[in-house]
Amino acid sequence: MATYLVTGTNRGIGYEYCKQLQQRGDRVIAICRTPSEDLKRLGVQVEPDIDITDDESIAVLVQRLQNTALDVLINNAGIFERVTLDGLDVDSIRRQFEVNALGPLRLTQALLPNLQAGSKVVLMTSRMGSIADNTSGGSYGYRMSKVALSMAGKSLSHDLKPRGIAVAILHPGLVQTQMTGFTASGITPTQSVTGLLERIDALTLENSGTFWHANGDVLPW
Ligand SMILES: NC(=O)c1ccc[n+]([C@@H]2O[C@H](COP(=O)([O-])OP(=O)(O)OC[C@H]3O[C@@H](n4cnc5c(N)ncnc54)[C@H](OP(=O)(O)O)[C@@H]3O)[C@@H](O)[C@H]2O)c1
Repeated sequence: MATYLVTGTNRGIGYEYCKQLQQRGDRVIAICRTPSEDLKRLGVQVEPDIDITDDESIAVLVQRLQNTALDVLINNAGIFERVTLDGLDVDSIRRQFEVNALGPLRLTQALLPNLQAGSKVVLMTSRMGSIADNTSGGSYGYRMSKVALSMAGKSLSHDLKPRGIAVAILHPGLVQTQMTGFTASGITPTQSVTGLLERIDALTLENSGTFWHANGDVLPW
């Protein structure tokens, strides 16, 4: 049994991570701001009132998790706000950087004492943060924040290798969640997380720092 910490767990992909991990017998520490009824019903360890953009929240979490060794830290929480060139909303871009790029980096740095050789760090980025894959433009805040997150992941993979900690930079596919308006063209959270857990299980120090699709494809930067 391994111990997984997951952020953004009250719904969507984060909730599904908790569900599948619990079903396979792993210990789950579910981080959220406000737990949903579904999350409460799962019976995993829930740590509420944690906003990943807030220093005080992160300090509270560090305090609560003193002496808790983590095998896998899954930075899943994120936001998507559409920002166009005509309606350039700089505050929204800044907000998306805070949540999508700085939040996961700050949390990972704060929880380094809980990780040890053999532990894994997961960053949930997006193919929308791939420069090579950007054929349609727009979404300034989301794209810019996710490419920044991917870059943080690459640096983390180098910096944490000497400590024996591997890093995965993952795209979940287009998934039917609140973020995408439960788009009919997406895959289900169950399908996505099944693939994501396969990638995390296969993560090693040798393949650390790779950008993968949940389906196993290596994605271009
Ligand atoms: N769905 C897709 O197709 C897709 C594609 C590519 C990448 N992704 C990425 O996958 C991850 C999960 O997405 P999802 O589709 O499951 O989205 P979702 O249903 O909108 O869930 C997002 C989660 O992030 C949490 N969150 C947002 N801001 C937070 C903050 N400041 N502090 C703590 N938690 C915060 C939300 O909690 P609250 O309820 O408290 O706001 C919620 O639990 C995200 O990083 C997203 O960018 C998703």
